[in-house]
Amino acid sequence: MPKRRTVSHHRVAKTLALALLLLLVVGSAAAQAVKFDADERERVATLGPWPPPAKVDPSNRVSGQPAAIALGERLFSTASLSGVGGLRCASCHEQWRGFVDGRTTGLGAEPGARNTLPLRNVALQRWFGWDGANDSLWAQSVRPMLDPREMKSSPARVAAVMRGDADLSAGYAKAFGAPQPSDDEALLVDVGKALAAYQETLVSARTPFDAFRDALAKGDARDAAPYPAAAQRGLRVFVGKGQCIACHAGPNFSDGAFHRSSIASRGPEGEPDTGRQHGLQSLLASRFNLLGRYSDDATRATAAHTRQAAADASAVVGLFRTPSLREVAATGPYMHDGSVENLCDALRPHAEGGVELSRSDRVDVVAFLRTLGVEARPPYVDERVFLCR
Ligand code: HEC
Ligand code: HEC
Repeated sequence: MPKRRTVSHHRVAKTLALALLLLLVVGSAAAQAVKFDADERERVATLGPWPPPAKVDPSNRVSGQPAAIALGERLFSTASLSGVGGLRCASCHEQWRGFVDGRTTGLGAEPGARNTLPLRNVALQRWFGWDGANDSLWAQSVRPMLDPREMKSSPARVAAVMRGDADLSAGYAKAFGAPQPSDDEALLVDVGKALAAYQETLVSARTPFDAFRDALAKGDARDAAPYPAAAQRGLRVFVGKGQCIACHAGPNFSDGAFHRSSIASRGPEGEPDTGRQHGLQSLLASRFNLLGRYSDDATRATAAHTRQAAADASAVVGLFRTPSLREVAATGPYMHDGSVENLCDALRPHAEGGVELSRSDRVDVVAFLRTLGVEARPPYVDERVFLCR
C-alpha cells in the first residue's frame, strides 16, 4: 500500500509539472504568434486546400480505374521489365523514403546525371521530369523502361514479359478489357498507362501546415495555435520578402513552369546539362507525346500546352522545372543534380529572381518547410540537413 501511494504521488507531481510546462510552452508560443495581415492571409490561402480533388487524365483511357491502378502497382515493383538484373521503378522510387533513393543522382543500368524526383502528387504536374521532356505521366513512365541510364529495356522485352506472365496477362485483361495488342510498342504504352494510373493515386497526407492554412482562412485562432511559431515566421517569409511563392505556388508548391537555375551541371557524358532546351527537343521528337497516336484523347485538348511549346521552341538553356516542396524535408539531396545536401543551403538564391535571405530567416523557412510533411524528422535524413550556414 505505502509503495502504491508513493507511485501515485509521483504521478500527480509529474502531471502537474507537465501541465505547467505545457502552459509555459503554449504561453510563449502565443506570445510569439505571428500576425498575418489580410494580404498575407490571402497568399497563404492559395497554398491549399489539400488534398486536391482527384482528376482523370483524358489522354489515358484507364486513368482512375481500380483494375489499372492494381496492375500499375504490381508493375511498379516488377524487376523483369528491366533489361538488366533486378531493377524496378521501386528501386529508385522507394516508397519508404518518399519515393526517392537518397542518392545525388539516379543509379540505374548506367549512372545518370539527374536527381531522382519524388512521385507523390506527380499527377498535378503538367510537364514531367526536371526538364519537362514528357507531357504526360504515362509517357514519363515509358521513358525509364527504355532509358539506358535507368532500366535499359526495350518494347520487345517488356511485351514478352507481359505475354509470358499469366498474372500480368490476367491483370492486363481486367484493366484494359481486351487481350494484349500484338504490337510491342502499343503494349509498352499500355504498361506506361497502368503505371500512370497507379502513380496518380500517390498523394501526400494532410500536414500540420494544411491544418494551419485552413484555420487561418477561417480565422480560427484556437486551431491555428498548435502550429509552431518558427514555422509561422518562416511561412511569412515564404509568402513575403522571400518571394518563394512566385515559383513555389499553389497547393503543390510548384508553378509547373521552368526557370533559369543558378546551378550549372553536366550530363552523363560531361556535356553541359541544358535543362529545358534538351527537354523540349526530346518532347517534340518523341513518338509518345500528346500530339502522337498513343494519346487516348480524341479531342487532343490535353495537347494544348504541347502545341504551344512546339510553336514557341525558343527554350532558353539552363531552365529547370520548379519542384514541389511537399515532403521536401524527406527527399534530399536537392536540385536537379542533387548537388545540395542541406535543406537550409537550398534556400540560397537558386533561380533567376531569387532573393538572398539572412541565416535566421532561412532557419525559420526550414522550420516551415518541415511542416510540409507528416514526418518532421525522418530517421534517414542526414543530420547536416538541420545545420544552417
Ligand atoms: C535508375 C533510377 C530510376 C528508375 C529505375 C526509375 N526512375 Fe523514375 N526517375 C528517376 C530520375 C533520376 C528522375 C528524374 C529524371 C529527369 O528529370 O531527368 C525520375 C523521374 C520520374 C518521374 C517524373 C516525376 C516528376 O515530378 O516529373 C516519374 C513519373 C517517374 N520517374 C516514374 C518512374 C517509373 C514509372 C519507373 C519504372 C518504370 C521509374 N521511374 C524508374 C530515376 C529512376
Ligand atoms: C524564380 C523561381 C523560384 C524562386 C523565386 C524560388 N525557387 Fe526554389 N526552386 C526553383 C527551381 C527552378 C528549382 C530547381 C532548381 C534546380 O534544380 O536547378 C528550385 C528548387 C528549390 C528547392 C529544392 C527542392 C528539391 O526537391 O530539390 C527548395 C527547397 C526550394 N527551391 C525552396 C525555395 C524557397 C524556400 C524559396 C524562397 C526563399 C525559393 N525556393 C524561391 C524556383 C524558384
